[in-house]
Amino acid sequence: MCNWEQAWLAYEPIENQRNRKFFKSVYTDQNGELIISALREIETASEKLFSIQIIRTDDREKAGILLEIDPSPDLGTEGYEITEENDRIYIRAAGENGLLYGTFRFLLMVSAGKDITGISLQENPQNPIRMLNQWDNIDGSIERGYAGNSFFYENGKVCVTKRITDYARLLCSVGINAISINNVNVRDGAEWLITEKHYNELAQIAGIFGKYGISMYLCIDFAAPMTLDGLPCADPLNEDVRKWWEKKCGEIFSRIPNMGGFLVKADSEGRPGPFAYGRNHADGANMLARAVKPYGGTIIWRCFVYNCQQDWRDRRTDRACAGYDNFMPLDGKFDDNVILQIKNGPIDFQVREPVHPLFGGLQHTNQMLEVQIAQEYTGQQIDVCYLVPMWKEVLDFSTGCGKPQDTVADIVSGRTFGQQKCGMAAVANTGRDANWTGHDLAGANLYGFGRLAWNPQISAEEIVQEWISLQISRDSDVKMMIADILLRSREVYEKYTAPLGIGFMVNPAYHYGPNPEGYEYSKWGTYHRADHLAVGVDRSEKGTGYSEQYFEKNAALYRDTESCPENLLLFFHRVPYTHRLRSGKTLIQHIYDSHFEGYADVQKMQRDWNCLEDKIPQHIFQRVKERFVRQAENSREWCDVINSFFYRKSMIPDEMGREIF
Ligand code: GCU
Repeated sequence: MCNWEQAWLAYEPIENQRNRKFFKSVYTDQNGELIISALREIETASEKLFSIQIIRTDDREKAGILLEIDPSPDLGTEGYEITEENDRIYIRAAGENGLLYGTFRFLLMVSAGKDITGISLQENPQNPIRMLNQWDNIDGSIERGYAGNSFFYENGKVCVTKRITDYARLLCSVGINAISINNVNVRDGAEWLITEKHYNELAQIAGIFGKYGISMYLCIDFAAPMTLDGLPCADPLNEDVRKWWEKKCGEIFSRIPNMGGFLVKADSEGRPGPFAYGRNHADGANMLARAVKPYGGTIIWRCFVYNCQQDWRDRRTDRACAGYDNFMPLDGKFDDNVILQIKNGPIDFQVREPVHPLFGGLQHTNQMLEVQIAQEYTGQQIDVCYLVPMWKEVLDFSTGCGKPQDTVADIVSGRTFGQQKCGMAAVANTGRDANWTGHDLAGANLYGFGRLAWNPQISAEEIVQEWISLQISRDSDVKMMIADILLRSREVYEKYTAPLGIGFMVNPAYHYGPNPEGYEYSKWGTYHRADHLAVGVDRSEKGTGYSEQYFEKNAALYRDTESCPENLLLFFHRVPYTHRLRSGKTLIQHIYDSHFEGYADVQKMQRDWNCLEDKIPQHIFQRVKERFVRQAENSREWCDVINSFFYRKSMIPDEMGREIF
């Protein structure tokens, strides 16, 4: 008996029996380890959904489900085709990976209650790399983890548990094909993961992921030659350092099968990197890239590099500019097995930020989009916040880079500039909690990330409907109600927290709850600069110049207060409280109204949820009910604190005369 649930692979018994007929037997002439995983999944699903013990048959003619290799030119290495012909399901693919993905898609469609009769579906993933980044620490804690401790580590040890197999199944079922399993901040003993101390366990974990087509990455400490072997430096151009990494990589790749490579956070928030030696990021990344090259390895190098020792009095330095300033001059200088991983926005996973200008800017460099499923700044899995609509906005953003296919989705899929090594990565939101994600409704974000990374065109609605059917209920009224809550949730969260793209009004360090000046005089470079007349940062060419990092079409939009999208107004401009928005309201009145509204919306969501009491599994109902109580308190606090802050600054009363403290 395990103490965790199966999330969207619950395969709850299904009343509607129309798909039962396919589950009499399964045929395949393949025998690889991914096929074994596919057959196992079919067994599990058929037992749970229909109480059928399905058999594997050698008689192709009698099978209800057939998994067959088909080198059709339309199917890439991971694509598949699912068709129903004469009461039989054919899953065809160019290789085992596609057969496994096709199997999961078929099973998930059945489990969601879809009628499969007459189906003819062909799919190839749009992004070559679809990756999760665990921020798990070796002591068992998780940086920005909101769902309990790590199931990869405990007290300095790597744990190999059955739960990891279930995790691999969950991830594979939505198309994830890569995972980094330790925090990007490699410290407190995690430096030693790439040593004899941990190879055995890591090899076992990599083996588990390998059975589900997921390659494993490790985060490394750029200063490892010093930390692990006492070399005097970690200069990427130093001969001894270069040789050290070559030898180390030979060891790692021979001891751990199925290694994809390394994810590296360097020269960022105190992590070591090439800057200490007067070298640049291309020097650092390429040195590692050459060391992993003989093993087909990849270096994923993060672009989250900025000055985190800023003085708030310094108005010229702008953290938003830093990623572009650091990496644009290096475009074209990275080896072909390096990928730059770029956060969706230039600051840090706020509920509203513009899209990072490196997208479209970098034209000769492999790149990946990084989003955060972990809800660090979006409610910490206490408040509900469905993030797929936000990621879709990022993916749909037209960069204006001068190519016909110029959206972020085009760029990271490799369509725009012809890259092969590219895709999407996300910081995971999972931990040891029974439901994996703390807040049950946060499951939609993990599921949704996988679906979206596979196919950015699927709508946020479609994803949410699928997920609810699989994890909570197939009842259409229930689905409508929960979908409605989820689809509104990000907008609601935005209404009661920091207004119009200003960001960072959170409590320092742990980032939950309102604190308007929490970061205002700190070194982190995230200032809103509110005074008694105005709020916001002028990032136009008259200010920090950030708007000019975009191609003209977007720069023109952002640099002018009149044309700037209002939800980003305070990100790009310093605006007086009396400024009239397009709605006719003044800025200050908008702030008051949206905060009162956000709080009221949460209470409405809470009432809607409470109506589901007899309609969904009790344990899910109760857990989410408890979260809504906390979200209601949180939104009330945000509403009061933010409104009072701006009222006391501006001394402009609320036109509606509501109570502001
Ligand atoms: C944020 C977050 C850190 C994290 C960092 C990163 O700043 O608060 O915990 O390490 O992002 O992405 O590296």
